[in-house]
Amino acid sequence: MKRGCFLSLEGGEGVGKTTNLTFIADFLRRHGIEVVITREPGGVPLAETLRELILDEAGLQPEAELLLIFAGRVQHVRDKILPTLERGQWVVCDRFVDASYAYQGGGRGVSRHRIEYLENWLVAGCRPDLTFLLDAPVEVGLRRARARGDTNRFEEETVAFLERVRQSYLERWRREPRRICRIDASRPLAEVQEAIAAKLSRLVETWRK
Ligand code: TYD
Repeated sequence: MKRGCFLSLEGGEGVGKTTNLTFIADFLRRHGIEVVITREPGGVPLAETLRELILDEAGLQPEAELLLIFAGRVQHVRDKILPTLERGQWVVCDRFVDASYAYQGGGRGVSRHRIEYLENWLVAGCRPDLTFLLDAPVEVGLRRARARGDTNRFEEETVAFLERVRQSYLERWRREPRRICRIDASRPLAEVQEAIAAKLSRLVETWRK
């Protein structure tokens, strides 16, 4: 059985992740791929319980936040992501490790080396084959996220925080341009999805060979 591909979707607040996640899953299914959609923080019961704390608990220390995210992540990877890939199905994950570098690293100032240590220790065997980074100026996304209402702790952060998050994502893209595909999310949705579809078509073709 050929291992499935692991895709993740990243970006700041209000960049259209949810809409494009559905688009990616539908596209792959139309091409005969079995897809499991999941998310972080979350994806399995323990991690979903932790998600509520992470998104809503006031006064969490950055290190506590990081450790809670990785606690959920190790459970998610071993109980769900790896077994799904082993079955030959594809996994599309709404945020993954890159988000920890962007939010806890860039945003909250935790050293990159500490995050690398956790990643290498806990989830080394589980790297996305492809990551879409939906990138848009902070104000554009923030306006959309706040218009939706019901904001979480991250959406209520300062523009400076979200700017650091954006710059950290872009830095990761520059370091790993083969894995991370940056999409300009300030363009019209049809163009964004055209770019995503082109990339996915190539990946499906290579996977089938
Ligand atoms: P988000 O993905 O924006 O979900 P929704 O679309 O429901 O608002 O919310 C998840 C939040 O978790 C997001 O603001 C960023 C944060 N987060 C981290 O800070 N670090 C991480 O490693 C992950 C996976 C998420």
